[in-house]
Amino acid sequence: MPTTTPTTATGDAARYAFVPGSPPYPTIVSSQGCYLITSDGRRILDGAGGAIVGNIGWGRTEVAEAAAAVMPIGYVVPLWPTPSRLALREELVEHWLPDGFGHVFFTSGGSESTDSAIRLARAYQVGKGRDSRWKVIGRHPSYHGMTTGTMAVASHAARQRGYEPLLLPFPKVPWDDPEQVLKVIEQEDPATIAGFIAEPITGAAGACLTASDEYWQVVTDACRQHDILLIADEVMTGYGRTGRKFGHQHFPLQPDVIVGGKGLGGGYVPLGAVAVRDEVAQALVGSGFMYFTFSGNDAACAAGAKVLEIMRREQLVERAASQGAVLGRRLHAEFDDHPAVAEVRGRGMFYGLEIHCSRDAVVMAALERDLWVYPAGSGPVADAVMVAPPFVVSDSEVEQLVETLREAIDAVFKG
Ligand SMILES: Cc1ncc(COP(=O)(O)O)c(C=O)c1O
Repeated sequence: MPTTTPTTATGDAARYAFVPGSPPYPTIVSSQGCYLITSDGRRILDGAGGAIVGNIGWGRTEVAEAAAAVMPIGYVVPLWPTPSRLALREELVEHWLPDGFGHVFFTSGGSESTDSAIRLARAYQVGKGRDSRWKVIGRHPSYHGMTTGTMAVASHAARQRGYEPLLLPFPKVPWDDPEQVLKVIEQEDPATIAGFIAEPITGAAGACLTASDEYWQVVTDACRQHDILLIADEVMTGYGRTGRKFGHQHFPLQPDVIVGGKGLGGGYVPLGAVAVRDEVAQALVGSGFMYFTFSGNDAACAAGAKVLEIMRREQLVERAASQGAVLGRRLHAEFDDHPAVAEVRGRGMFYGLEIHCSRDAVVMAALERDLWVYPAGSGPVADAVMVAPPFVVSDSEVEQLVETLREAIDAVFKG
């Protein structure tokens, strides 16, 4: 992949942080494949695809060209079709979404998508004449975004602390205990429950916690039995990250709503999508389900359609599975017996290391060594880092990633 033409940084990087006292990060002026290139010429191996976003790698000029080609059209109200919107919807329905998911609502990212799914669960139940249903069940631990609705439905102590008065009291179930799921549904009364939202494999809140097949079967059956809308939050796990098109496809988990963001735009554009089964969409008739001003931004849709086309052309979902297995083997070999590592878990290009030392210190120690890994953990998972590189990562880059992460963890653990 070509190195992108370096841009020139003119502003003061030290004054960039919104919150004073945030750690200093390098200024990125170009990129290539799995590398971010800094203003002083360092090549940082992007071991987490940014925020677990970059799947096709960096420097894909054809994505930029696709967006640039439609940008001069300007703004079109989201209810009106454009060639890019139609192309992206077609690509999703024909090549990505499971059968029966023919209705797609575009957003500008993960939080807008999950928040829309919460609203949608309510609208679905109201549309069916069940006005008493409003609760959306979430899981401990979980993360669904930074709107007040998505914060309320999640369980991520560090990101919720202080905001409690703003958050609706949505019920929570453990991530791994099917009996508790049934108990909470009964205690809360199914006649008050609109939806159930779950990350098929927990993202940054739990660093790849993976529930059993039995758990997902119980969740799916209970949702079906009570007509609770089952929402799969595939913002991290979707679009190939786990080695299948969607994370839920590893389990007997059958969602009614599939929520995506991050990898859908490959990291090049802010783009999200909420896809529903046709019968769910039917219940929304007359609900006035509202869009966002930038739902289906034309350039974002054009870029997203190109990202998905590249994924298919280069068989990158398959590569996430095969090269992800290489990554997984190396991580297990290096860290299974490491005294600072509690567990290595994950699949595809989506791995979490739960650790016995400060994750922020490890992230910074890795960055000093020109490697980026993603900080993770909340509640029962105190400290963790995530390893989730672009799917194009090579054998030698996997080697560099694992060796550098080892050096970083050793440096922090030995102190
Ligand atoms: C599972 C999950 N849902 C939702 C979100 C929110 O997405 P965004 O940050 O794009 O708003 C994230 C972000 O990390 C996520 O991991």
